[in-house]
Amino acid sequence: MSLTSMMGVEVPVVLGPFGGMSSVALTAAVSDAGGLGSYGLYGYDGDRIRAVAAELREATGRPVALNLWLPHREPGESAPADFDRAEFDRAVEGMAGLFAQAGVRPPEWPVAPLPDFEEQLEAALDARPAALSFVFGVPAPDVIEAAHARGIRVIGAATTVAEARALEAGGVDAIVASGAEAAGHRPSFLLQSERSLVGGLSLIPQVVDAVSVPVIAAGGIADRRGVAAAFALGASGVQVGTAFLATAQSAAPAIHRQRIRGALASDTVLTRAMSGRLARGLPNHAVRAIESSGAGATFPLQNILTGVFRRAASAAGQPELLSLWMGQSAGLSRIEDAADVFAELAAGVPDDAR
Ligand SMILES: Cc1cc2nc3c(=O)[nH]c(=O)nc-3n(C[C@H](O)[C@H](O)[C@H](O)COP(=O)(O)O)c2cc1C
Repeated sequence: MSLTSMMGVEVPVVLGPFGGMSSVALTAAVSDAGGLGSYGLYGYDGDRIRAVAAELREATGRPVALNLWLPHREPGESAPADFDRAEFDRAVEGMAGLFAQAGVRPPEWPVAPLPDFEEQLEAALDARPAALSFVFGVPAPDVIEAAHARGIRVIGAATTVAEARALEAGGVDAIVASGAEAAGHRPSFLLQSERSLVGGLSLIPQVVDAVSVPVIAAGGIADRRGVAAAFALGASGVQVGTAFLATAQSAAPAIHRQRIRGALASDTVLTRAMSGRLARGLPNHAVRAIESSGAGATFPLQNILTGVFRRAASAAGQPELLSLWMGQSAGLSRIEDAADVFAELAAGVPDDAR
């Protein structure tokens, strides 16, 4: 089955979800243009998911995808709601300068954990989006069953051929193949993410050969040339993040959007500094300070702690204290309006893939 008929869209172009940085306006703009707009629910509790699902329904009558992080744990990461006091104290002390520069007090112990996954899932299923996409693992059989029972398609994310095979065996309907060029967190789950850094040119055709479900290419695709290349490699669709994050409809702070436009392919790095998990973005003062002090905690504690100064820095326009997530094609993000970005990308889709 083609990706377009599977998702009920006209053009096989997916807006990547942005956990913590999705916007209803951007998701609706991509869905209205004929693609699949995704919305990232990372960190949202059930009530917030219900509220945003209602906003999305109001904003667009077209199919949308909702995205959740599975409760995967890398070695060394603590269980949810089970943070280590000594790790917290070390990280807060090591990042004291960053809290001071943002003009905020460090958080007090205990910090609230991330919302419960089951609560998130229930609210996301109730919203009945066209698709639920997941990162950091293979959704459990009962999760896939519950989605399918409601007519919801399930999308998984792979960074290696082995992960793609595991996702297909687990029963997902489509697979995002995320090349190492991509912005944000590496969604690896079988090996450490540092050992799963396959570039898209290698990853996409090998995943296409290994599985029979549609493959959605992600990472470094920012204009019609990247889209055409992904289809030449056998992809059935593309997922684009950075080029949309730079648009007027994005929820990224203006200073983040400016940094995307000014970035060169060689500027981005993969770092665990800001969240505890490996992610691609522009290195800034915060990344350098945390890396050189070794002060960072594990995920999700580190992401929760840096969130305190990131929120203040965002309001005050201090890019040096933000997580400036962006992919290796950031410098190709020249278009201001999301519908224009979509039209540029759609121009690279071969006629027989629509
Ligand atoms: C700020 C930001 C947040 C992201 N959060 C998520 C997320 O929560 N879930 C997810 O599946 N992908 C997430 N991604 C990855 C994107 O959805 C997309 O796959 C990626 O940006 C594609 O690579 P590109 O930026 O080179 O186009 C995020 C990307 C960015 C830039």
